[in-house]
Formats: sequence, C-alpha cells, structure tokens
Amino acid sequence: MSEQLTIALSKGRILKDTLSLMRDAGISVPEDIDESRKLILQSPDMKMKFILAKPVDVPTYVEYGAADIGIVGKDVLLEAGRDLYELLDLGIGKCRMCVCGLPEEKESAVTRVASKYPRIATNHFRNKGRQVEVIFLNGSVELAPLIGLAERIVDLVETGRTLKENGLVIHEEIIQISTRVVANRMSFRLKSALIDDMITRLRQVVKGDVL
Ligand code: PRP
Repeated sequence: MSEQLTIALSKGRILKDTLSLMRDAGISVPEDIDESRKLILQSPDMKMKFILAKPVDVPTYVEYGAADIGIVGKDVLLEAGRDLYELLDLGIGKCRMCVCGLPEEKESAVTRVASKYPRIATNHFRNKGRQVEVIFLNGSVELAPLIGLAERIVDLVETGRTLKENGLVIHEEIIQISTRVVANRMSFRLKSALIDDMITRLRQVVKGDVL
C-alpha cells in the first residue's frame, strides 16, 4: 500500500462542519463516518485513515505520531500545550474564551476561578499579576459562581445563551477560538507532499475559492 496520512478528527460539536469542509475540498471522506461507531475508518480512495477521538485527546495522538494530522479547537490546543505545528485555521467552531461571573461580583473579590481549562485560566490570571486558586471542573462550569464555588469561571462562550439563562455576564474576553489543523513535527517533514496537498485544498475552501 502507498503512503497514507492518519488524521485524528474531534468527535462532537465540530465533526459535521469538519467533514463538510473536507468534502468541499475534494478530500475523500468515508460516507458513514459521522454515524458509524467505528473509531478507525479508511477513506474510499485509501489515501487516508481517519481516527475519531475525544477532542482533548487529539493533540496527544498527534504529538506522539499516532496521527500525522489533527483537527481540533484552539481551546484544546492552548490547554494541552503540546509541541505541534499549527498549519491552518479552518474558521469553523468559532467562539470566545472568556472570564465570566455574576454581574455584581467585583474583580477585587475574586479568589477562586473554576474552569475546564485550568492552564488557560492560570496563565490569564498570572499574566494580570493576580493570585487566584484555579479549580478544575469537567463541565457545566456556569454552576460554580451560582452556588458559591468560585467568583469567576473561564469558559467558552458561543451564542451567550448559557450565560444569559443563568444570569451571568462576560467580564473579560481572553481569546477568540476556532478549529485548527495541526501536524506532528516528524510527519510534517516525512509526508510533506501529502500534507501540502491536503492543506492547499482546505485553504482554498476556507478562503472561499471555487475548486
Ligand atoms: C460549552 C461551554 C458553555 C457553552 C457555551 O459547554 O462550556 O457552557 O457551551 O455555549 P453558548 O454560549 O452557546 O451557550 P458544552 O455544551 O460543551 O458543555 P459543558 O458545559 O458540559 O462543557
């Protein structure tokens, strides 16, 4: 068999948009990939192997070379802090990483910050010269300020609906987030022709060029 690219896709929210971008780019994607329970799928043209991973694990597969390419949110990349090449912003999965809390809670009163992104939260408050305790939560982070676990959260805001329905507001925006294509450093050198071809095709679609 000729050389193949292994691509780690993030299961969940961004999968549908990722697949439709790839199809638009003329990349051969298995028909049933978003409905199947299979975790490893071959592309119909056999040029690529797709693995379906939890987003938080995608940088790990790529750094260790188990996957050549990963498609994952910038939030996950910043939190993971892995040594990868970031090749392209796909412009999907757009949202913002923000510091949020109750509207009346003053910044001077902040001692505890809850987040699914402890590294991003810690760096943000350290850069501001603020000493806070960062508490890791797995999800539904908006609960924390409502029940007195923390005065602030660091979390993703997409539509703002979760905040609004829970009486919370954005106090600061940390960074804009979107889905990125990353590569293993060794694969980037050894499989440069395959990777270049894929990135060129995706870039044209992202830029809105007609293929
Ligand atoms: C994410 C994020 C917010 C919400 C933001 O949570 O952590 O809670 O979406 O979206 P919105 O601004 O459109 O309301 P997710 O649904 O992934 O679940 P989680 O809270 O369990 O992490």
